[in-house]
Amino acid sequence: RRSLLTGGAVAAGGVLVGGAATAADSSGAGLSSPGATLIASSVEPFHGPRQAGVGTEAQAHAAFVALTLRPGVGRVELGRMLRLLSDDAARLTQGRPALADTEPELGQLPARLTVTFGFGPGLYRAAGLEARRPTSVADLPSFPIDRLQPRWSGGDLLLQVCADDPITVAHTQRVMIKDSRPFATVRWVQQGFRRAAGAEPGRTQRNLFGQLDGTANPVGAPLDTAVWTPDGPDWLRDSTTLVLRRISMNLETWDLLGRPERELAVGRRLDTGAPLTGAAEHDAPDFKATGPEGLTVIPDFSHITRAHVTDDRLRILRRPYNYDGTPTAQGNADSGLIFASYQADIARQFVPIQQRLAQKDLLNEWTTPIGSAVFAIPPGCPPGGWIGQQLLG
Ligand code: HEM
Repeated sequence: RRSLLTGGAVAAGGVLVGGAATAADSSGAGLSSPGATLIASSVEPFHGPRQAGVGTEAQAHAAFVALTLRPGVGRVELGRMLRLLSDDAARLTQGRPALADTEPELGQLPARLTVTFGFGPGLYRAAGLEARRPTSVADLPSFPIDRLQPRWSGGDLLLQVCADDPITVAHTQRVMIKDSRPFATVRWVQQGFRRAAGAEPGRTQRNLFGQLDGTANPVGAPLDTAVWTPDGPDWLRDSTTLVLRRISMNLETWDLLGRPERELAVGRRLDTGAPLTGAAEHDAPDFKATGPEGLTVIPDFSHITRAHVTDDRLRILRRPYNYDGTPTAQGNADSGLIFASYQADIARQFVPIQQRLAQKDLLNEWTTPIGSAVFAIPPGCPPGGWIGQQLLG
């Protein structure tokens, strides 16, 4: 069982998931549909030079769990904890229950489960290894648009759990929180979702504003350059960084806009995701094209004009999840984006984009960052190894 393509998981029987699961795939047993069987049994590799869950095609469900290390937890205890948690992840991602799993039946459908470990600035402090912290993994500058709440911010250790099945995510989250209990407390958990697995294979997902979200992400070689650290000591090589922002989206005021205004705010069409100067989703936007009144067709303050980056090395990989909490008694939504941005260097890549957006972006009228956290995503590990070994071992 080996991924054949980037993000292409292989199910038992070797059928590629993500393409149409047709009648020809009808090896699925019993009454369950063949497509669903394939989704449930698909496996993403856990071991390797880079952690899974970044370049992996985004699964339908996610839980981001941030932990605070207990007082007295240092380098040795961190090593113990990460050995244990890596073992849980290595088993559960391959469809095997964790050691002493109290519900082993829940550990048997991996559904492309990935567990990605993130190290916050506090972990390096606790380990006495400040000198090995990637420089850009530090508090972000504050932005005028921020309304950050401590309940969604910070964290020493992140467990990013993603799978195409919500029970798999819930069980993995439970096992790993249980095993980390002697070492850490739960700081926050953010759960999110995208389209159901197999609903729109190969298509860009939509956020709760109805927009196609992810169109201009780097792919292929530019993705590699932008996201992964190519060299350096072994605790840095093949690492990346994550900025996680919880951004609330005001669906009530967004609802008041007409369709043209919504499209002008972003610079793309709602139906196809095409730039306002193009016809198809992946047409390159023409930021200079002007209309009859001499104004640019894509407004200068549109989200894509302000966010656009031309140098491949300075791009970011966005892998966001939608959240949808409980509405107020008046029926106002608690919705938004768990905005996950991966890049080799936060200060060089994420911060300048966020600064431009914070200064002027039409979308700010309807969006508010309410949580923020930064993590190093350390390199992966070989079979028998554990995440963090290069740093702490
Ligand atoms: C593009 C939505 C926040 C960076 C886009 C697009 C949409 C969108 C619909 C166009 C399609 C695409 O390329 O994916 C949103 C929403 C946000 C949000 C609803 C908040 C709730 C952010 C933040 C950043 C960001 C915080 C970075 C700091 C980008 C970038 C692009 C983009 C780099 C691609 C621009 C290009 O080169 O065309 N976003 N976004 N976005 N967004 Fe956002």
